[in-house]
Amino acid sequence: MKIKIVLFILFLTCHSLLAEDGHDLWLRSKSTTSINIVCKENSPTLEIAKQELKQGWQGKNGETIVLSVKNNKAINHDGFKFTHEGIQANNDFGILYGVYELLRRQVTGEPFKEEICNPSYEHRVLNHWDNLDGSIERGYAGHSIFWRKGNDAFIVTEKDKVLWQEYARANASVGINGAVLNNVNSSPNMLKTETLNRVKAIADILRPYGVKVYLSAKFSSPSAIGGLKSSDPLNPEVIKWWQDKAKEIYSMIPDFGGFLVKANSEGQAGPQDYGRTHADGANLLADAVKPYGGIVMWRAFVYSTSNEDRAKQAYNEFLPLDGKFRDNVIIQVKNGPIDFQPREPFSPLFGAMKRTSLMPELQITQEYLGHSVDMVYLSTMWEEFFKSDTYQEGKGSTVARCTDGSIFQQKHTAIAGVSNIGLDTNWCGHLFAQSNWYAFGRLAWNNQMKSEKIADEWIKLTFKQTSTDKSISSNNWTVNFLKPVKQMMMDSREAAVNYMMPLGFHHIMSAKEHYGPGPWWAPTRMRKDWTPPYFHQADSLGVGFNRTKTGSNAVSQYHEPVASMFNDVNSCPEIYLLWFHHLPWDFKMKSGHTLWDEICYHYNTGLQQVKQFKKTWEKVQPYVDQERFVDVKERLVLQLNNAQLWNDGCVLYFQKFSKKPIPSDIEQPVGKLEEIMKNDMKRPMPWVKR
Ligand code: GCU
Repeated sequence: MKIKIVLFILFLTCHSLLAEDGHDLWLRSKSTTSINIVCKENSPTLEIAKQELKQGWQGKNGETIVLSVKNNKAINHDGFKFTHEGIQANNDFGILYGVYELLRRQVTGEPFKEEICNPSYEHRVLNHWDNLDGSIERGYAGHSIFWRKGNDAFIVTEKDKVLWQEYARANASVGINGAVLNNVNSSPNMLKTETLNRVKAIADILRPYGVKVYLSAKFSSPSAIGGLKSSDPLNPEVIKWWQDKAKEIYSMIPDFGGFLVKANSEGQAGPQDYGRTHADGANLLADAVKPYGGIVMWRAFVYSTSNEDRAKQAYNEFLPLDGKFRDNVIIQVKNGPIDFQPREPFSPLFGAMKRTSLMPELQITQEYLGHSVDMVYLSTMWEEFFKSDTYQEGKGSTVARCTDGSIFQQKHTAIAGVSNIGLDTNWCGHLFAQSNWYAFGRLAWNNQMKSEKIADEWIKLTFKQTSTDKSISSNNWTVNFLKPVKQMMMDSREAAVNYMMPLGFHHIMSAKEHYGPGPWWAPTRMRKDWTPPYFHQADSLGVGFNRTKTGSNAVSQYHEPVASMFNDVNSCPEIYLLWFHHLPWDFKMKSGHTLWDEICYHYNTGLQQVKQFKKTWEKVQPYVDQERFVDVKERLVLQLNNAQLWNDGCVLYFQKFSKKPIPSDIEQPVGKLEEIMKNDMKRPMPWVKR
């Protein structure tokens, strides 16, 4: 009996040493030396900062680090300064961020020098599209970490608290300081008192880590749960209802961040239901939270069934309202004019609304990018977006500078990322999807950061200390693991664009969960602007959406010289070609190929790139623990299936229009179009099983 117990304990110990389920994210540093911390102040946040330093310190043995909270005008918001003796900040959160940066540098090997690190945005917020029943809209990593259905839905367990604390810590370690806890398609029950009690419990755990909570509010709440006849924003009773609701929330959560609102969009209620404007609606909520320092993030993701090009509608609706919003309203704009496609040009609203605070909304969860199956490092996509030059205030008016306060005197600056987090042990489903959570935080902190540096950091923090074979030298690890894995990440988004939607194609995915190809999908009863043929416009003569002056004229929403650049087929970057132009199949590309051939080459390149990723990963096996190695390997097999399906489905479908042969020097499709189309809506979602 005794032997059995000993063996069991031994098994548990060994198992815990070997187990690498990815739950620890990028937070693995264990102290190797001791540290002496000097800090005059005290608070729960500073306690965490000290604890992290002790736990993770890998610097000189016995070194003294001074943490000092004092006012320094050169430090903005919750930024910090590295001084010759330690870390200085205007508030406790700045100290905590400084500690995480210091510990990160000890692992990555980046020098620690005297400098000020200020955040690009004041509010760096995750948007959880979590429903109160625990499901997640566009979530591919299990159920919600905040909500569940059942009898214990509102009971706060120890397990909940541990998870929320780990979540808060991970966010703080990359500078994320806000979380919207529920779906933009919000339930009116969100603002009921019993739900708010749970929000308070979450806020209490997140608070010391500097993460404020926000809620998505349903605009019709006053009539839906408040017993009022209307939710008209100018109705005095409605105004009072929101004021009372704000008072109730702030009495429970004094540092409540504010509301996020999706109104008059995809069937959601909004001020237009009462003949009012988005400004009337946003200002109503803004006034309610103003006395407590709250903000309202009002989304510009709007489009109706009108005949107007869907890509133009948000701009048309919001630009005339510029200057009409309260100063605690921020308009939240998706990076592109349609909807988180693998590649879109930037939304023309950036830089155009000059008297209104505007914030970018990025999508971390991979709704259109292979869910948690395809390995797609999104940082390069976001970097491309930040660097896009709007020319609104002359050359160099990049989206980054238009939104972070460098160009316009916005009262508030903010950025949002739609979260990819769920109850899966490794949080994000795909291990590499963790790098997108990480990258969002890093770019929200510093929108000038290079994706390559972020990937370098993430790989070192995630894999370096867990290399299975301790005899592997650092140089060997760098050459044989870090370099190839980084290259794979850096290539991954372009690969996805190649095998999904190259050359400006967009919205040609399957209607089923937006997973896999579906350029053919067009049931007659469906709204046109939800069907792929509306977007690709393929016919016997050519392909692409004409948004030039001779077409929908969406180009005119951009500032010159961008408008002319997109309008002219010779200057339009080929990556956006079919977004802006309808062109003949034999149009001559810069490469000398015809457009048709070029489309085929792109799909094939994407397919070959995924084959290469698979090979790369197989080679790095000696450097990764078994569990994480196998998990990624299995998903790469599925990703290759996806790439093949996209290649075969799209090339064969468009060939029906082009009537041209597929170039003979590339792999020919292996699938049959009829079968692919037939199975389109029946294909299982791999992540559902997990
Ligand atoms: C997309 C997405 C929806 C989401 C919407 C939004 O349309 O598919 O699930 O609700 O965007 O951003 O509001």
